[in-house]
Amino acid sequence: MANGKILIAIDGYSSTGKSTFAKLVAKGLGYIYGDSGALYRAIAYFAYNNGFIDGKGNFISKSDLQMVLPKVRLCFKTLSDGSSATFLNGENIEKNIRTSAVSAIVSQIAEVPFVREHVNILLKSMGLDKGLVMDGRDIGTAVFPEAELKIFMVANDHVRAQRRFDELKLKGNTTDTLESVLESLKKRDYIDSHREMDPLTRAKDAIELDNSSMTLKDEIEWINAILKPNFGLEVII
Ligand code: CDP
Repeated sequence: MANGKILIAIDGYSSTGKSTFAKLVAKGLGYIYGDSGALYRAIAYFAYNNGFIDGKGNFISKSDLQMVLPKVRLCFKTLSDGSSATFLNGENIEKNIRTSAVSAIVSQIAEVPFVREHVNILLKSMGLDKGLVMDGRDIGTAVFPEAELKIFMVANDHVRAQRRFDELKLKGNTTDTLESVLESLKKRDYIDSHREMDPLTRAKDAIELDNSSMTLKDEIEWINAILKPNFGLEVII
């Protein structure tokens, strides 16, 4: 442990509530929250807007994307209200990357090895001082295999689809149905679990958290029951 701080890796399928949980844990420990999916979403958004992929995630020019990617400036910034946002070449694209259109193409981008290598460098630099809670698909297996605590989150399909559907509705999306949301989640899960490089899989030493019928408060009690005896840490909410 560096300065008594640890790395917490949270992986799992789409819409299992990883980011909500990870953000709350990070806040309650005074740690940084790392949203690895936001970087894949940002690259998918960039690739589509610049004509490197079509709206279905099919590549138009993979080699051109590979050439420009190192020049793209990607980072997280903390806003005046305390929330974190994803920036691409100086522009706040946080809202743009959370759409169903980006969800529909992100997994095709995330299976490309040079994209993963690029993102991994950015993610690893965030963990140098520990004190980080990061969520994603391969955090405990590929990005931080040395993480002191690894959690693998699962939830049943209906709960996951309903959560994402409610989230989209809240943002004013009225075109997606519960069925189309479920279909999109399953498609992403399939691509994420079957890609060659760093597929979504549970690390051998990860602890499973099935939050299908848990409240956020239950989830915090669950993690505190691990953090207190093992690391002397407590998430205070
Ligand atoms: O929609 P949800 O919040 O569940 O996903 P996300 O965390 O925003 O991630 C979006 C997509 O990025 C995933 O479906 C994966 O294709 C990809 N991803 C990945 O491949 N590896 C990660 N560590 C994180 C995300």
